Amino acid sequence: MANNNELSLPFASRRSFLSLSAAASAAVAFRIVTEPMLAHARVLSFPKDAIRIDANENPLGPSTSAREAASAIVPQGGRYSDWLTDDLVKTLAEMEGLKLEQVRVYAGSSEPLHHTVAAFASPQRSYVTADPGYEAGTFAATAAGAKVVKVPLTKGYAHDVKAMLAAAPDAGVFYVCSPNNPTGTLTSHSDIEYLVENKPKGSIVLVDEAYIHFADAVSAMDLVKAGKDVILLRTFSKIYGMAGLRCGAAFGRPDLLEKIEHYGGWNFMPITALAAASASLKDAELVPERKRINARIRGEVFAWLDHNGYSYVPSESNCFMLDTKRPAKAAIDAMAKQNIFIGRIWPAWPTYARITIGTASEMEQFQAAWQKVMSGAVTASAGAMPSPGELGRRKRNLDEDVIRG
Ligand SMILES: Cc1ncc(COP(=O)(O)O)c(C=O)c1O
Repeated sequence: MANNNELSLPFASRRSFLSLSAAASAAVAFRIVTEPMLAHARVLSFPKDAIRIDANENPLGPSTSAREAASAIVPQGGRYSDWLTDDLVKTLAEMEGLKLEQVRVYAGSSEPLHHTVAAFASPQRSYVTADPGYEAGTFAATAAGAKVVKVPLTKGYAHDVKAMLAAAPDAGVFYVCSPNNPTGTLTSHSDIEYLVENKPKGSIVLVDEAYIHFADAVSAMDLVKAGKDVILLRTFSKIYGMAGLRCGAAFGRPDLLEKIEHYGGWNFMPITALAAASASLKDAELVPERKRINARIRGEVFAWLDHNGYSYVPSESNCFMLDTKRPAKAAIDAMAKQNIFIGRIWPAWPTYARITIGTASEMEQFQAAWQKVMSGAVTASAGAMPSPGELGRRKRNLDEDVIRG
């Protein structure tokens, strides 16, 4: 278990971070760190034909009905059209059995994640998270002047809720991501409930269900319904394939949601996102079909890894941690040489890299390239080379191997 407030920002941000004036330093408290900032910190631009399995995106993109709804609403783009937000809130509330005032819609879940941490963590109230875990909240906590307490996952890769409680009697926020990013592993409903029932007074549990639709998991939404000290986040960026369209939601008791509104309000929504999100929710086949597709491809990749003796952490989402059996940067670079961009490293597990499940064809290409990396046929410093121009565009020459969250 380690307390670590030291942060390293992605390349461009890190550079500007170092040269900030006093006024700009204060403004950093408001900067929202996102998955693409974290995922693409080391890559300047991707070649056109690159295989990108590095940012937990959905290669299928928005569903057909979502695309049609987004296109159809464009002529109305001259107006704010708040009623579209109301519509989406209503649909979400009905689906989850909540009151309208327990639902807020945002342009993705990064914003409510940041603002929840800003509202409930402080120099007096720590931010407690799993290790490895999704890093965005640690940036928000540090900006809020809060201590960041990282607690290793259990042997079964769940959040160690008892250790989290013991590690921070002064906690303001317990962040629980289930399925966890980056491991894709679950924390049981009973463990989340235990955390909620035993946490210090005045703290909240922030349950991030960005990947829940991929898994056979019990949601913690019933705890929101029961009025507990829980804020729950969902996003349309993952199974719904709308990362670039930007839509997400926060669910919680009205008094908790009001607190996070002080940090940035809500309802500044692009109407294309609202239309696409509403259409997605009305498409009853979307989630089960995409869940099946992802599970099938993931199962095939795991079977291949098993067959070839490679180790990984079995996951229930659209990403998993793969053991590279070396400092993982060498494997990441050797894969990039083959035009396949895999995910980043978490310092707690320095030999592992995160892999996103792509299409079946992308994963076949991933497997062929992985075989070459593991056999030594392609290494970071030798082997198959892309054209020099391509390589130059592709990579920044970073001296740091790892983003430290
Ligand atoms: C665990 C988790 N939470 C939240 C987000 C935020 O996503 P978005 O802002 O696209 O909704 C991500 C993105 O990858 C994530 O992995």
